[in-house]
This record gives sequence, structure tokens and C-alpha cells, in this order.
Amino acid sequence: MRVIGSEKPNFLRIVAGSILCAGMSFAATAPEPTFSRDVAPILYRHCVSCHHSGDIAPMSLVTYQEVRPWAAAIREAVALRRMPPWLADPKVGHWSNDPRLSEREISTLEAWTERGKLEGNPRDLPQPPAFHDGWKIGTPDVVIAIPEHKLAAQGPDEYAYINVPTNFTEDRWVVAAELRPGNRKVVHHAHVFVVDEAANKASAEASTKDPAKEYANSIRVKEGTLEWVRPEAPVINDGCAVDDNARFPGSKVSDLGGLIASYLPGREADVYAPGTARKIPAGASVNFQIHYSHTTGKAETDITSVGLIFAKEPPKQVSRRVDLANHMFMIPAGDPDHQVTECHTFDKPIAITSLTPHMHLRGKAMRMIARYPTGEEQTLLLVPAYNFNWQFTYRAQPPINLPKGTRIQIIAEFDNSVNNPLNPNSKEPVRWGSASENEMMDGWIEYVDAEPANPPH
Ligand code: HEC
Repeated sequence: MRVIGSEKPNFLRIVAGSILCAGMSFAATAPEPTFSRDVAPILYRHCVSCHHSGDIAPMSLVTYQEVRPWAAAIREAVALRRMPPWLADPKVGHWSNDPRLSEREISTLEAWTERGKLEGNPRDLPQPPAFHDGWKIGTPDVVIAIPEHKLAAQGPDEYAYINVPTNFTEDRWVVAAELRPGNRKVVHHAHVFVVDEAANKASAEASTKDPAKEYANSIRVKEGTLEWVRPEAPVINDGCAVDDNARFPGSKVSDLGGLIASYLPGREADVYAPGTARKIPAGASVNFQIHYSHTTGKAETDITSVGLIFAKEPPKQVSRRVDLANHMFMIPAGDPDHQVTECHTFDKPIAITSLTPHMHLRGKAMRMIARYPTGEEQTLLLVPAYNFNWQFTYRAQPPINLPKGTRIQIIAEFDNSVNNPLNPNSKEPVRWGSASENEMMDGWIEYVDAEPANPPH
């Protein structure tokens, strides 16, 4: 990796150098870029959301003193488009949260790092973004936190499922939600679901004697807080070829999917599209699902919380989501290129507002395709080099309109070979499971109804 990484910038510099020669008169008169006037605005827009103290990046890039020592590394990272991280193929789709730098921004950063790295006039410096005591969504109307969770110094990964009542006495419409890990050293990722207690009770009563659910329970193992599919369970790699799309038997896709916020590497807060909101019914509770890794070798504690911002006026649209999944695939030992599919047909016209691929360490690539009722097909999202360490939600701008009867097909590729540097074990077949060493093949879709009910519900 390092060999490739160090060769490419040289090549790019030669190209850039020849362009500079051709435009010499311009280059000679153009004022030398300075940190305050030219560099800081780019960093503040594209980099400091992660590169400020206390966030996920290893160094802060806010002040001149902080940035200067990193000049060479910044030049390489932006020239190779390693930073800011982003995995969608730019030729497919338009995403409002696409963070990529323009060519002009890249050449400004390159020019600054290759020339005098001047600070310039501090009065040119824009106001650095405020981080609201760490909340990226602004000051939340409500913060709901788990009771302190204790972790032992060592042990296998742990999934904690923690229920916290909201005590909301009326329905609330949420326009933004942000999950904040209390202890970033041990919280690998986390989700928070809204649990409608009344609806749950009704569905539990209805399903106690459902044979499909009993069968589904027999093919998976639950141990402590982890869950996985038994090695000998039937295998369905081509989920699109079967009716229930290779979900657990009896588990239906539901558009009341209760997930309201996620904390995943590289993912920003859940801010719903303008005019849309998620509903938290009165009396609901929120369920935190937190994946803890024992990374420090010391006993640790964590108080993870979710911050919510409520709609100031009733929303025009309900933000809905379906979580598509193939639960029944099996990736053979050592296979460098194993394909798994899943499909879902929408029985109403919708507009997709975001797409999120989710796989674990063997995830290699994912394509999401719309097959229209006319028979035409269109790739909506292509992630040609998936990376577990960067899990993005791709927010469609504008929303993607799909007529009733459109079938979504998701094709994933997995690399279970020794050549995958993230692969923890290439010697065994891999199946669905909640731990990172097991796999998942999920596509999460947020959408709104194209013909919404009035008032929305
Ligand atoms: C989504 C969060 C995020 C954003 C946005 C981001 N970074 Fe990073 N950056 C990281 C993390 C995390 C690391 C350390 C892990 C790694 O290298 O992948 C890192 C590492 C780096 C490194 C050192 C390693 C390397 O790859 O060279 C540089 C330099 C860097 N970032 C520069 C930038 C610049 C410049 C920008 C904006 C143009 C930026 N980053 C935007 C999260 C981010």
C-alpha cells in the first residue's frame, strides 16, 4: 500500500507542474495562497467536522499551528482523494452530503503545501465552525442517556441492548437525531430504535404461535447479547430468487422500522430531509443497541446518549425506512469474490431520501439498482470499494422518485480471502451474525410516500 501511496502523488505533481509551466504568467502573478485566506475555509468546510479535538480523527486541523506540521500528509491525502473519506462512485447519483473537494480546492491546498505555507493575515481567517459542546445538530431539545454501563478489561465483543423510557406524554416529531458515544474508545458503533410499547405488545400476542418464527429461532443461535446463523442452516445467496428475499422466515420488511439514529464510523448525525420528520409515539421507549469492543485493556465505563430536535411545525411528510437484509447467505472459506443479493418491491410510489449499505469486514462492493415496472433499470448507488471503517449514508439530492411496483435489487460482493487486509479469518465459511467477525448484507432505505396522507401519520 505504501509503495502505491508514495508513487501517485509524484505522478500527480508532474502533471500539475506541467500545467503550471503552461500558465506561467498567471502563476507568477497569482498571490501566494495563505492559510488564513485560502486554506482555512476549505478545511473548515470539508475536514474539521472530524478533525477537531475530541472527535474521531487523530489530529485537530483548526488552527495554523495545528495544520502546518501536517502539510505534506494533507497534500498526499487530498491528491489521492483519501480525505475526506467517501466511497460512492461519483458517476452514479447525486448526494447532498458528498464531501469531496473540487479540483480547484485540491490545487489550492497543493499550492499552499508546496510553496511557503504562509499563515497570512489572521484577520482573513473565517470563524471556525462551532461544535455546540460536541453536538453537531445544534442544541438538542431533549437528551436521553443510558444508565452508566460498565465494561470489563477484556473479553469478546459485547452487544448491549438498553431500554430507556422517553416519558413523552404526546406524539413527538423528530427532525434531527444524534447518537453520541459516551466513551469513544469502546463504543464501536451504536443504533437507537424507537420502541412503541403498545404496538409491540399487540404483535407479540399475535405471533406467539407463528410456526415460521419458531423455525427462524431454530436456525440461529443467541449467546449472551450476540446472535448468529447456525453453520448448517439452509443457504440462500441469491435472495432475489426467493419470495421472502432470504430474510429470516416470517420476518417481514416493515416501513415502521424504528431506527432513529446511528453512530457509525464516518457517519454524520441523522438530519431528516426538510419538511420530513420521524414520529416518536407518546409512551414509547428508546432502545440503545451498542456494540462495545474491549480495545483499551482496562475496565471502562460508558454513558451513551441520543439528542433529539423536534419539529417546530407539523411535518408535511413522514420519513420512513425499510431495512433490507439477506440473513441466509454463506460466504465460502477463502472466496475472494462471493456474490449475495436481496430484493424488495415497493407497492406504492415513493421518493428515496437516503441509501446506506451495511456489511462487515468481508464487504467488498455493493450496487443498489431500481428495476422500474417498465422493465428499465437504473443503478442508484455504487460503492465499488466498500470499507467497514467508513460507513456512510448517501443522502439523495434530489430525492429519487420510484413509481409503484419498482423492485429494488441489491447486489453485494464479499472478499473472504487472505488478500482482504481486514479479514479476521479466511479459513472458515462466514454467515450472518451480529459480531463484526460474522457478516451482514443489509441495505437501509429511507423514503417518503410520493402521495402522502394528510395529515401525515
Ligand atoms: C469523516 C471524518 C473525516 C473527515 C471529513 C476528514 N478526515 Fe482526515 N482522517 C479521519 C480519520 C478517522 C483519520 C485517521 C484514520 C485514517 O487515516 O483513515 C484521518 C486521517 C487523516 C490524515 C492522516 C492520514 C492520511 O490518510 O494521510 C490526514 C493528512 C487527513 N486525515 C487530512 C484530512 C483533510 C485535509 C480533510 C479534509 C479535506 C480530512 N482529513 C477530512 C477522518 C476524517
